[in-house]
Amino acid sequence: MSKNLNPNGIAQSVTPIFIVEQKTGTNIIPIFDSSIREKRIQPHKSILLKVFVNDIPVEIENISDSGMAFASESTFIQNEHSELRIEFSGDQHLLLKGKVVWTRQINGRSLNGFQFSQEYLPEGFLEALDRTQLIKINIQDNLKIFTSLDNDFKNLTFEIKNYLEITKDSLDRLEEEILVYSENVRNSYREVIKSNFESDFVGMLKDYSKKLDAIFSKMENSEIRKYHTDFFRSQVGKYYTNNPFIGRALRKPRGYSGDFEMMNQIYRDNFEGRTFFEMLMHKYGINESSSLSVKYRRKYFVNHILEFSSKHSVFNVCSVACGPAKEVVDFLNIISVPDSEKYNFYLLDQDIEALLSAKRNIYEVIMRRGLKTKVEFLPVSVKDVLEGSPDIKKLSHIGFHFMYTAGLYDYLSQPVAKMLTTNLLSWLTPESMMIIGNFHPSNPTKTISELVADWKLIHRNDEEMLDLVQKDKVKNVRLHKDDQNIDIFLEIVV
Ligand SMILES: C[S@@+](CC[C@H](N)C(=O)[O-])C[C@H]1O[C@@H](n2cnc3c(N)ncnc32)[C@H](O)[C@@H]1O
Repeated sequence: MSKNLNPNGIAQSVTPIFIVEQKTGTNIIPIFDSSIREKRIQPHKSILLKVFVNDIPVEIENISDSGMAFASESTFIQNEHSELRIEFSGDQHLLLKGKVVWTRQINGRSLNGFQFSQEYLPEGFLEALDRTQLIKINIQDNLKIFTSLDNDFKNLTFEIKNYLEITKDSLDRLEEEILVYSENVRNSYREVIKSNFESDFVGMLKDYSKKLDAIFSKMENSEIRKYHTDFFRSQVGKYYTNNPFIGRALRKPRGYSGDFEMMNQIYRDNFEGRTFFEMLMHKYGINESSSLSVKYRRKYFVNHILEFSSKHSVFNVCSVACGPAKEVVDFLNIISVPDSEKYNFYLLDQDIEALLSAKRNIYEVIMRRGLKTKVEFLPVSVKDVLEGSPDIKKLSHIGFHFMYTAGLYDYLSQPVAKMLTTNLLSWLTPESMMIIGNFHPSNPTKTISELVADWKLIHRNDEEMLDLVQKDKVKNVRLHKDDQNIDIFLEIVV
């Protein structure tokens, strides 16, 4: 056998591409059914093995450490000593002695069994060949995909990687050094990082996210988007997602991104994380454009509740998909105790944890301020509303003066969103208002959210928002946009 092959250095995690057949190996008849059998492998079509028996090219059907089956147009004399040559890429080859031990016609092809007569193949050789070949194929596929990626996208990704790498390495080193300092000194460092580092860092990453959006949002083909996403994640994914906010968006512990705790993280606006770098990345996430819109709508809804309730002696408010309902907390913090009596809030969400979080926040203010406001926390999903159970019928007869929903329609298809709107509007009393919030396609955060956390929303433009409601069934509709022009609100008066 030629000695210039070295089938070592195999990556263990790669799935073999040979199909392993458990067949009786040689012509020895097994004594027990459970007798050991040699592994026979069928070379994958991508393996470029050239095989010759007595210099005649043949096609391998399967091969084991002690023999092989091959197809050939030529005829071979059985039990005659023959020479087998297996050529690999380059000029490497294996030479083995053996003989053809059987010949059969199968499906119009002549198949021959060849048994090695002097030695087995080196132990592990076929497996090594199999795995290294797969690695080669993976590398080739990867290079092909890499070449096909948009150049601006690639360059930007490398620039982001460079920026994140140097920032993380420097901060990690600093943190390592100050580990032995007193707690007071370390706290000072932390405060200085907040005041002296955060705004530049967050600004830089928001800028990158806008540039990524300008390139990525033009890509419509889902396969092309996937290649770019995989590449981005492989280069910088770990920098983005090792922190509480973006990490939660990726891991989706409640089954989806944008749950009540992510809303709470945005509202808390704290430095959260284990290291300076994680804290900064967390701060970036909760100050991305879409997170700032979440903060904007909190004030926007409070102002509407205050304005629309001024002429009412009883005011019923419904929040659909309420999450932690922080706007209700804000409202209860500013309303006077005598006024508080006229308000009845009905907070609906599919997630019990979200309702419990809202209940804790709201009761804390009600108890502290001695308010008379009534608040119901109802586990209701969009599906419940559309199916109209007896409980939902009761809700529909309450007569709401103001209803709002934000962060829900972004997950609903247009037909479902339209059906839901029709249903919810029927719960309102005359002259009342419903507001539906939804992100607009101009939201620049949509790309980074999809790239790093697989968080995809349904964005709606002005026409798609207006299409949610049948205009002839309501008094008035108008659109309002937030201060960044990325969250859009459909204000409907019935
Ligand atoms: C992004 S949060 C928005 C919360 C709140 N409206 C706000 O702006 O802070 C989305 C909320 O919608 C709720 N939600 C998602 N899908 C829902 C569905 N199909 N039915 C009811 N609630 C849903 C989630 O449980 C979550 O609390």
